[in-house]
Amino acid sequence: MTSAPSEYFISTPIYYVNDAPHLGHAYTMINSDVFARWHRGLGERVLYLTGTDEHGQKISDSAAKAGMDVGDWTDSYANKFKETWASLHISYDDFIRTTEERHSVAVRKFLQAVYDNGYIYKGKYEGLYCVSCESYYTATEAIDSNCPVHKRPLTVMEEENYFFKLSAFTEAITKWYEEVDDSVFPDFRKNESAAFVKGGLEDISISRVSLKWGIPLPWDESHVCYVWFDALINYLTAIGYGSDDPLFEARWENSHHLIGKDIQRFHCVWWPAMTMAAGLRPPRQVLVHGWLLVKGEKMAKSGGNGVDAVSLSEIYGVDAVRYYLMREYSLGSDGDFSLEALEQRYNVELANNLGNLLSRVTNIVFRNLGGVTPGYSGEIADRAVLDGHISSFKDHMNGYLTSKALEEIAAMVRYANVLIEENAPWKEKDPERLSSILGDLLEIIRLAAVALSPVLVSASPKILEAIGVDAKVIEGNFVSELEVGRYVGGSIIEKAAPLFPRIEG
Ligand code: ME8
Ligand code: MG
Repeated sequence: MTSAPSEYFISTPIYYVNDAPHLGHAYTMINSDVFARWHRGLGERVLYLTGTDEHGQKISDSAAKAGMDVGDWTDSYANKFKETWASLHISYDDFIRTTEERHSVAVRKFLQAVYDNGYIYKGKYEGLYCVSCESYYTATEAIDSNCPVHKRPLTVMEEENYFFKLSAFTEAITKWYEEVDDSVFPDFRKNESAAFVKGGLEDISISRVSLKWGIPLPWDESHVCYVWFDALINYLTAIGYGSDDPLFEARWENSHHLIGKDIQRFHCVWWPAMTMAAGLRPPRQVLVHGWLLVKGEKMAKSGGNGVDAVSLSEIYGVDAVRYYLMREYSLGSDGDFSLEALEQRYNVELANNLGNLLSRVTNIVFRNLGGVTPGYSGEIADRAVLDGHISSFKDHMNGYLTSKALEEIAAMVRYANVLIEENAPWKEKDPERLSSILGDLLEIIRLAAVALSPVLVSASPKILEAIGVDAKVIEGNFVSELEVGRYVGGSIIEKAAPLFPRIEG
């Protein structure tokens, strides 16, 4: 009997279309792309979603300032994001724009459900607002009456609005944190949200009369939906909430939202409350990553310190950028971006350790074995050592610890480099022993290329072809290929072309 593949839904934030994407956004995209590729490799049916957040004051102001029609403005920025993701080999399955009809259908259905369940009421909003964040702040959160993020003056807002009874969900959210151990990952991020909820929740204003650029409320068309309320619902739109897709339930049950810590409150507090208010379960998991910093400051559009991901990958190669970002930072913490660190990682782990290993091994096979590859024997490379690296690698990948996972592979490749030094195949005269040495090294190369395939999207297939393995193995359920001893040899190869030329500083 064959059972249906399990669903895996991974989303990124949908980005504001007020400026071009930078390396900070690329960091979110590469992380999620690696998760999506890993889960496809596990044989799951993946829906990997990204998109753009196109309504609200900030976007409407940006278009007006540029003297452009807001529709043309959002089209041009949505395209900019798509082009950037294509050049970084981001394998998303769906790109949602909040101005699409399918989204407005889902938002109105969702709002009506929350309204019918009694969690929306009319009231008067008076308070501080930051248009750049599209977010409310209390007087205590403001720093010298400025936005704590943008460090610019907050706007005083006063409007008759509809409110969402967020305060009714304090207990339910707390229970979610307690009952689902990894509901918010990593743990220290969950603790932050839990402390915030414990401090008490206030109801939030969810509509605007002063603004037209948004989705009208189904029961009162003189108001448009507040941009954050609208934006969060994109996750439901894309999995078929508005269209009653038969896969909706299964996808929602396995939903994973990757976000940056800047929007943690919206995703870890508001969103579970909103979904529960609509009669749904909360999302399965929110994965929170930290910020890329430049000299200690958040890399930001408004900060003018954005590094261009596309030019960086044109200079260093897309694999180098992807590898550096995944290897250097662990999910949750902030990290300083530095070109020196990127070059260092690349030169040591990719150029010297992996690239040289491939060149040396294929060269000796070509010269001393007539190009015919031997298979894995386990006589030189201890099976237990390789099993250990591979099983830790898998555990870390399953646990969203990509950096640690990559460290396992880097360690396995260092082990291969120790073996090659110790066994000196270039002077080995006994053909049987020479075959054992090279077969085991080829197996390590194969394992590394398969394991790294979600990250080294360009090099992994080339490495496999260079050792006579059909690169198709990494297209499907590739995790099953991560089994020690599958390299059987018998292929005819040549000396591999260098894949990671050293970067000279
Ligand atoms: O907040 N380091 O959109 P946004 C790491 N539209 N990640 C960074 C980053 C940095 N320096 N800078 C940006 C919004 N990001 C809303 C989201 S979701 C329903 C609505 C990434 O364009 C990170 O993922 O401001 C962050 O959460 C996101 O960009 C914010 O993008
Ligand atoms: Mg932002």
